Amino acid sequence: MRFDIITIFPEMLAGFFSGGVVKKALEKGLLEISVHDLRDYTHDKHKQVDDRPFGGGEGMVLKPEPIFESVEAVRKNKRSRVYLLSPQGIRLDSALARKLSRVPQVILICGRYEGVDERVGRHLVDGEISIGDYVLTGGEPAAWVVMDAVSRFIPGVVGKGESVRRDSFFDGLLDFPHYTRPRDFQGMKVPQVLFSGNHAKISDWRRRKALAKTRDVRPDLLAKKKLAPGGRKLLESAPRKGKDHEPD
Ligand code: ADE
Repeated sequence: MRFDIITIFPEMLAGFFSGGVVKKALEKGLLEISVHDLRDYTHDKHKQVDDRPFGGGEGMVLKPEPIFESVEAVRKNKRSRVYLLSPQGIRLDSALARKLSRVPQVILICGRYEGVDERVGRHLVDGEISIGDYVLTGGEPAAWVVMDAVSRFIPGVVGKGESVRRDSFFDGLLDFPHYTRPRDFQGMKVPQVLFSGNHAKISDWRRRKALAKTRDVRPDLLAKKKLAPGGRKLLESAPRKGKDHEPD
């Protein structure tokens, strides 16, 4: 799939390509990313992308013309989707990231905190996406987050598909705990069950830990989830946060 990012700070996105999983995905051709400078779609001497708000008020507002023009220039076909990054958007979650990973081209417009002309949100884009209930100075970090979360769902981007499947949120739960060597680090021991070689037991332990963590930290997620009787039983057997630590 392909991302096109429209921004007034293209340099802010540079780090995204320079390492790790995303760099490999780009090299393998699983992912294509192009960053576009909004100022390239202006036609005046000063390359002006913003202007004062009608009705008065603080700050500047991104003008509609360069944004509409840039989207028209980079849009590949009818299946392309266009999103404005803004705190007014629908909240990014795992389901949305997965849905976007099936779109051949996602165009992301980075807003600025002062605002973007409303006609962009109303008439140009397919939707607005927020990465959380806080206000960033601009959409660039949000574009980074969206691209990262979506890329992980593209087959082949993350080493083993298995690890995406096991991740937090994939089945609506937080992740279970992970351990590696040493077995004993300054008296902090790896739970015995992980050395048992009993896969069913380990799998139950992981599920119970994931359920308990979700109940204690994100009860809102657990409330949305329909638990099978087996899951409910596992959860009931997990001690609550603040209570005695479960003997591992
Ligand atoms: N731009 C400013 N704040 C944002 C947020 N929370 N999510 C997405 N884009 C933004």
